[in-house]
Amino acid sequence: MKNMKKLFVCLGVITGLMFASGSAFSKVVMDDIKLPEPSVTGGMSLMEALKNRHSSTKFSKDEIPLQTLSELLWAADGENRPDGKRTAPSALNSQVITIYAALKDGIYKYNPQMHTLEAFSKEDIRPIIGSKAPVILLYVANLSRQSKYLAAVDCGFIGQNVYLYSAANNLNTVFLYGVNSSALNYKLQFKLGEEVLFAQLVGYSSSK
Ligand SMILES: Cc1cc2nc3c(=O)[nH]c(=O)nc-3n(C[C@H](O)[C@H](O)[C@H](O)COP(=O)(O)O)c2cc1C
Repeated sequence: MKNMKKLFVCLGVITGLMFASGSAFSKVVMDDIKLPEPSVTGGMSLMEALKNRHSSTKFSKDEIPLQTLSELLWAADGENRPDGKRTAPSALNSQVITIYAALKDGIYKYNPQMHTLEAFSKEDIRPIIGSKAPVILLYVANLSRQSKYLAAVDCGFIGQNVYLYSAANNLNTVFLYGVNSSALNYKLQFKLGEEVLFAQLVGYSSSK
């Protein structure tokens, strides 16, 4: 009985060390999020949004409300037609980009078909990117189905959708190539062939 107790204590310590080490992937149970219906009418005109579009790395601490996150993701690469096609064009309609949203309380995978956020990891990985923006979008490409060249073009269209939604909704954003992709790929252990190509920071400007 004493030996059994020792064994359980050891197992507990080993598990604790694995999570604390940072190399282990803490796929802790979180709830999926059903995103509210995006509002797809009204808003700023396209010409005004283009006039406002700009990059900024300055963000206030204000959280982005779920309704806004829903619209941001739908604008980025949501389904806009019954045949499953998206707000962003995709080379050969291969749709190889998956958007992961890194938030303070963890990482979620955007499912455009269901318009949901699927819980992925409980970790706050924003320090790896070096930003405390309330939302960091990771553009993860499945390179087993598409060249990196065309996948990068797809990311560019998604990124511009995010720029325009942000410009029209008083959000700051910046598209980033300079992210530590290898650290993110290692940490997040995506499926074989998948890797982070770019990230995009989104948040309210400090002068909101
Ligand atoms: C492919 C691409 C990669 C970029 N990577 C970074 C980056 O790593 N860091 C950064 O601060 N800005 C990055 N930017 C933003 C550019 O610096 C920004 O678009 C440029 O300075 C022009 O400013 P504007 O977007 O306000 O017009 C990137 C933009 C693009 C299109």
